[in-house]
Amino acid sequence: MIEHRLTERMLSVINRALKRVEQKQAIDSFFVDLAVDFIRTYADRAHHGKEEEILFRKLESRNLSNADRQVMNELIEEHAFGRKITKALVDANLQNRNGNGSALASVTAQLRTLVEYYPKHIEKEDNVFFPASRSYMTDDEDQTMLAEFIEFDRKMIHEKYNAIVRSLEHD
Ligand SMILES: [Fe+2]
Ligand SMILES: [Fe+2]
Repeated sequence: MIEHRLTERMLSVINRALKRVEQKQAIDSFFVDLAVDFIRTYADRAHHGKEEEILFRKLESRNLSNADRQVMNELIEEHAFGRKITKALVDANLQNRNGNGSALASVTAQLRTLVEYYPKHIEKEDNVFFPASRSYMTDDEDQTMLAEFIEFDRKMIHEKYNAIVRSLEHD
């Protein structure tokens, strides 16, 4: 939930940028790069990574109620939807940067989709799924999971920059 708060701040920044686009009919592609990096590295890898690979995986083996299991599946689908939109955003940003005039509309459409759907995802986790998921775990299991989260985060920076060097080596 702490991570949701930073994500909300970034969504506000994106919203502000979208308002400026309306006036200027242009968007800074470096800003979009930064937004994509935030979404992919922080919101998707660091945050959804911990949800999917640690929390959801643990809950998978528990006797979840049908309603809770359905919400968990929705959350997983929403993560996948976010990845699809982000991929479209990256493609549109590249085209816009290369001077394709019609790509601006696609850049803003993808950004708008992200700022509209994601707050609902956060709300569903904060107010519905996370409170419900607590009942399937003991306090000890909670603490173990917290330690796993910390270990996951510790590895992330190395994973990210290893991947960057690898991709540059094959350029
Ligand atoms: Fe999520
Ligand atoms: Fe989340």
